[in-house]
Amino acid sequence: MTAFPQTAATRLVRVTDLHRMKAERQLIVMTTCYDTLFAKLLDECGVDVLLVGDSVAEVLNGEGSTLTATLGVRRALVVCDLPFLSYHVSVPSAIANAGRIMQETGCAAVKLEGGRKRAETIRGLVDAGIPVMGHLGLTPQSIHVFGGHRVQGRDEAAARRLKADAQCLQKAGAFALVLELVPAPLATTIAKQLEIPVIGIGAGPGCDGQVLVLHDLLGLTESFQARFVKRYATLSDEVRSAVRQYAAEVRDGSFPAAEHSFAE
Ligand code: KIV
Repeated sequence: MTAFPQTAATRLVRVTDLHRMKAERQLIVMTTCYDTLFAKLLDECGVDVLLVGDSVAEVLNGEGSTLTATLGVRRALVVCDLPFLSYHVSVPSAIANAGRIMQETGCAAVKLEGGRKRAETIRGLVDAGIPVMGHLGLTPQSIHVFGGHRVQGRDEAAARRLKADAQCLQKAGAFALVLELVPAPLATTIAKQLEIPVIGIGAGPGCDGQVLVLHDLLGLTESFQARFVKRYATLSDEVRSAVRQYAAEVRDGSFPAAEHSFAE
């Protein structure tokens, strides 16, 4: 596998580039992203795909930031999650909702969850010119059906279903697939069997790329630590320490000092 070239041109990553990367065995780097500030930073660092995931509700406990995440991006492919129930009612309403999201956010593609039941919708979206990334395995929008964060595809029948679902999404026209919380050997088999890139999260090293929730990898989320998350920093400690120091200095009068003030 080749590393990201630091001198890489800032040409926008397109869905077809992900296919080329898979063919060239170049691993795809994807993170979630919910705002302009991080979008610029992640883009500068060479992240290939930014996912405006609906994990935003869980991670930031807020809404509405999806509209700004494409601003300032010069290279990364920006993909927006289609919200829960925005693509289940009918194919025409899914096209209208996804089209509106693309127009309002400027994203280049959308992501939706589910297997064979979503094939017709994916076909309709792709026919309308909307690139679609699929999502299989543990699909968070169906967490109440799964009854918790459980590894999917563990028994033979479930593994067979998952492989068939993956083929279905590829046939329907999905340009890539997120595979979440699936045993590593099964994910590797699916990645090998598909022509489209498979981006794993909790699916082992045999996928064509990896995605993590940004705030998890930065160590900003503390209440939940999934086994598949690697923390590359502990920013929550840094934030606490900085804010405590600021508060203490405001209270003892040492901030603002002369250099932070204007004499006239
Ligand atoms: O919503 C999200 O952030 C996601 C990732 C976990 C893949 O779907």
